[in-house]
Amino acid sequence: MAESNGFNRFAGTDGYIASNPLVDAVNCAIALQRPLLIKGEPGTGKTVLAQHVAEGLGMPLLKWHIKSTSKAVDGLYVYDTVQRLNDSRFGGGNVGDIRSYIKLGPLGQSFAAEERQVLLIDEVDKADLEFPNDLLRELDEMRFTINETSDDVAAKHRPVVLITSNNEKELPDAFLRRCVFHFIEFPEPALMRQIVAVHHPHLDAKLLDQVLIKFYWLREQKDLRKRPSTSELVDWIAALLRSGLSLDKLEEHIPFVGALLKKEQDIEALKTFDGRGGKYPKAWSDLGPRYQQ
Ligand SMILES: Nc1ncnc2c1ncn2[C@@H]1O[C@H](COP(=O)(O)OP(=O)(O)OP(=O)(O)O)[C@@H](O)[C@H]1O
Ligand SMILES: [Mg+2]
Repeated sequence: MAESNGFNRFAGTDGYIASNPLVDAVNCAIALQRPLLIKGEPGTGKTVLAQHVAEGLGMPLLKWHIKSTSKAVDGLYVYDTVQRLNDSRFGGGNVGDIRSYIKLGPLGQSFAAEERQVLLIDEVDKADLEFPNDLLRELDEMRFTINETSDDVAAKHRPVVLITSNNEKELPDAFLRRCVFHFIEFPEPALMRQIVAVHHPHLDAKLLDQVLIKFYWLREQKDLRKRPSTSELVDWIAALLRSGLSLDKLEEHIPFVGALLKKEQDIEALKTFDGRGGKYPKAWSDLGPRYQQ
């Protein structure tokens, strides 16, 4: 997989279909040893990418799922004062040794590890605005000091860092400057066929066509509040297959719409369309020039 100049380290995996620009972005981030910041619609494979980069590079994966209450320091280490207090009260543990109460967080573990790791920092925009700012130095220098012990933790191998964001908050420019950026464009039908094939390898070609025609038609509806994504398409197909629905039924309407649409207004709009005798598309040509196959 690795080419002679060492740039093309990542080439995708059997379980994840990465577009060429995404593969380039991953390799660029690896070459520059900078974090890769990934954005894109929900359900377009941002989080699972990390697992597949780890698999493709043959490296272990560490995950750090960010919550609204997450603090940058949690990723470095946590000093378990409560445990130490309990041990000193009730006996047990090694109260004299602060180090035994220091637990490295995911970022700390990735620095301390003997082999190079892939680190996922998932949904960085969930935390407050200080969070990315507080990580700048650690991501740059890949080292930090544990204040309680004055121990320095420096990365033995700089981890491959993937950061995902759902755009809930703007990230600071100083943070962006340190990252390689990639926006996962919503897959065109040709790429989507490959993605679906990963999850449903034995899908009948005619059924797949009908599924994709309905799916992209839905996404084209202008007043949709939430457009269905890749993961919802994969789920929908699973529901269709389990129900044993025939191809002609699928040509006429959109069954199990709750697997695709998640807003009551969107479901209502579809019902109204149905009620008015609206015609669902049956061929790619019904979707307009953009979808000519
Ligand atoms: N390129 C792809 N190749 C294979 N599977 C994919 C791809 N893109 C999306 N999927 C499927 O979609 C599912 C959702 O992906 P994932 O959870 O990574 O999305 P996400 O972008 O992180 O969404 P969110 O923003 O909601 O967290 C995955 O479990 C996977 O099955
Ligand atoms: Mg995700």
